[in-house]
Amino acid sequence: MKVLITGANGLLGQKLVNLLTTKPHIEVVATSRGPNQIACDAATYTYRKLDITQLDQVNRVISQEKPDVIIHTAALTHVDQCEEDQETCWLLNVQSVQHMIQAAEKYGSFFIHLSTDFIFSGKKGPLHEEDEPMPVNFYGQSKLEAERLVMKSKLPYAIVRTVLVYGVTPHMSRSNIILWVKESLEQHKKIQVVDDQYRTPTLAEDLAMGCYLIAEKRAQGIFHISGEEMMTPYQMALATAAFFQLDAKLITRTNSNRFKQAARRPPKTGFIIDKARKMLNYHPHSFKEGIQIVSEQLNSLKNMLI
Ligand SMILES: NC(=O)c1ccc[n+]([C@@H]2O[C@H](COP(=O)([O-])OP(=O)(O)OC[C@H]3O[C@@H](n4cnc5c(N)ncnc54)[C@H](OP(=O)(O)O)[C@@H]3O)[C@@H](O)[C@H]2O)c1
Repeated sequence: MKVLITGANGLLGQKLVNLLTTKPHIEVVATSRGPNQIACDAATYTYRKLDITQLDQVNRVISQEKPDVIIHTAALTHVDQCEEDQETCWLLNVQSVQHMIQAAEKYGSFFIHLSTDFIFSGKKGPLHEEDEPMPVNFYGQSKLEAERLVMKSKLPYAIVRTVLVYGVTPHMSRSNIILWVKESLEQHKKIQVVDDQYRTPTLAEDLAMGCYLIAEKRAQGIFHISGEEMMTPYQMALATAAFFQLDAKLITRTNSNRFKQAARRPPKTGFIIDKARKMLNYHPHSFKEGIQIVSEQLNSLKNMLI
């Protein structure tokens, strides 16, 4: 089975390459814009530059590779940047998805599309796959429109929605909650963390596993793939401080209305993952286990650098 990954330099993309290259029956084609940043034995996969905004590049790579499965992770994931630069957001998160669909339709590739809890209003949670979407920001609108394009396409597809992904890789274009809290407290910086937003944080390895299980089973439809503990960022910060034995007194509890951010955030999301559990045998790690895994990876990265 040949699997082509877009956005392979990203957090999920790198975890997918790490996981799929351990499966002898899978041939991995990792694609991203710019040079290869993936920390994985280069002999185990092919890397190709692919800017998804460029239709000619998308057509060329897909027609040459003819993948059985495409896992489309590439996106503009900075929520405030999407609000401030809506044109770029739409180009990356919507028009480029149409490029991928157009190219893939010629080969009938199974299309696994990554989406988000931010398609929901945040008025209630945790959420089922069938709950009504109602985004409160432009990032959410763009990802919802992309879902509609995928559903309207002629492709066999799965839409994988996820929530607040955390993890570590050697090359990261953006931080995430555990890394930010750990680094801030290690530098004795005071941080304010909101206690009025609810999420089910997702270990990047678990998300990669969810995508792999979907690809293996050719499971079609919408899947909620996340952790299963409903927590506020403040609770996540306290758990991180406790795990790394850092000073929790540096963490101040606050509310989202005290922050000026370009994009509104949905207050309460989080997912019910029963469908993934039953249909895919998907079983995520607990948040504490997730921190432990990140901690072990940080230690081995440190050892690599010494
Ligand atoms: N992270 C979360 O908390 C979260 C939550 C819900 C849903 N999701 C969804 O999950 C997916 C993966 O997220 P992630 O955390 O892995 O994101 P990420 O770390 O930001 O990775 C996205 C990747 O896409 C690449 N990319 C950007 N523009 C591109 C282009 N024009 N052509 C090709 N590649 C391009 C980026 O390249 P550069 O490295 O060059 O920037 C980056 O490597 C996304 O679809 C996102 O919407 C993420």
